[in-house]
Amino acid sequence: MPFLNDQNRMWQEKAREVAEKVVRPLARKYDLLQEYPWEIKDALAEAGFFGVWIPKEYGGAGGTVLDLCLVIEQLSRACGGVGVMYCVNALGSFPILVGGNEEQKAHWLPKIARGEKLIAFCLSEKFAGSDAQSLRLAARKDGTGWVLKGEKKWTTNGGAADLYTVFAVTDPASKSRRISAFLVEKGTPGFTIGKIEDKMGIRCVPVVETVFHDVRVEDAQLLGGQPGFGFHHAMGTLDLARPGVAAQGLGLAQGSLELAMVYGARRQQFGSPINSFQMIQQMLADMATQVEAARQLVYASARSLDTKMPAANKMAAMAKLFATDTAMKVTTDAVQIFGGYGYMRDYPIEKYMRDAKITQIYEGTNQVQRLVVARNLVKETGALTQLLEAYIPREVQEGFNDPATLAAQKAGEGEAAVRGTTS
Ligand code: CAA
Repeated sequence: MPFLNDQNRMWQEKAREVAEKVVRPLARKYDLLQEYPWEIKDALAEAGFFGVWIPKEYGGAGGTVLDLCLVIEQLSRACGGVGVMYCVNALGSFPILVGGNEEQKAHWLPKIARGEKLIAFCLSEKFAGSDAQSLRLAARKDGTGWVLKGEKKWTTNGGAADLYTVFAVTDPASKSRRISAFLVEKGTPGFTIGKIEDKMGIRCVPVVETVFHDVRVEDAQLLGGQPGFGFHHAMGTLDLARPGVAAQGLGLAQGSLELAMVYGARRQQFGSPINSFQMIQQMLADMATQVEAARQLVYASARSLDTKMPAANKMAAMAKLFATDTAMKVTTDAVQIFGGYGYMRDYPIEKYMRDAKITQIYEGTNQVQRLVVARNLVKETGALTQLLEAYIPREVQEGFNDPATLAAQKAGEGEAAVRGTTS
């Protein structure tokens, strides 16, 4: 693989090995059982994968976002559910890295890095999905702590996780400092798991409702120690985490392409393997091209975060939407190449298609990703206006936003029309 350094390759190869030896053979079992795959989690912990994104000073491997993406890609190539069961721990712990204070980092990150503590991210609610600012779970100040009341929806890893990053309203009257994040431990009185979702895909990882019934947490559990920064922590986290979901999509697309290639070579029709037919060849060629384009964008977006490039959040959104749309397209085409067999559970291919669908939805729908990209483009436009300056009459530019000038212009146009001129 071009442009990868030794460290990148080390994680990629290690993840590929664990994916082939441990994940692929167990993927079907946990898809059918819809149970958390503790034996796979233990293998990932033993391989050191939970420390990839955690700095060395907090007991991690000090890897990059790209290293994390390479691991997720390889795991997802074998099982999309395991891909998210792993990377949701990065999503849950990024808020600590982004906004946690020294005590919080020192206390939690080493345990997460060793795989001793699993973590989940509780942002979405029944009535707050894409509109993440509109969440309702309330945190009321109470002496030296806070009391949390409300519910969260679609908590991935819920029940399995030991720690939950919970976003709550601490200042309902404030517009920009309304939300704060809290670190809530499993077993805290009043904190329970509600409905366990029965899902189309990613069935090995639990997705649940989390219920907070007067859950008391201390000030020390408020992320960063200062209320009001929760939304910024959530957005900063999602920027970091989105290349990971993109890598999940990439792995699913790559894995399904490989299965379709093998099936295309084995399946005989009209006296020949179906991969000798041009229509199948065209499909495979398009799938491979889309996968490679997604790979370049995913790696580039991870690097843009690692090197703190401006507008890295735009790249993360682009990678997430492109790679996960690619995953849906390529896994669907792979099922098509498997034909009737592909629709049945006998082969592993239909699982790729089921696992792929959610990647277009979670961690920001692909519509939200397009919104993030478009908002960045609108901002960037300011620096480009000179490109068309020569083509726009000055008086129109200068008066464009000024109602008085516009009115005068209109009056002028009226006079011109009466005189029969337009210039
Ligand atoms: N980084 C830091 N701060 C940011 C930011 C970023 N990327 N984007 C916005 N902000 C800040 C803004 O500067 C602004 O700050 P001030 O109030 O201080 O000025 C504040 O946040 C509000 O910004 P916007 O007005 O732009 O926010 P918005 O309400 O219009 O929302 C949005 C923008 C992009 C739609 C956002 O709500 C969003 O990303 N929604 C999707 C939520 C999401 O991804 N949910 C997924 C849940 S997790 C999940 O699915 C995980 C799982 O199960 C595996």
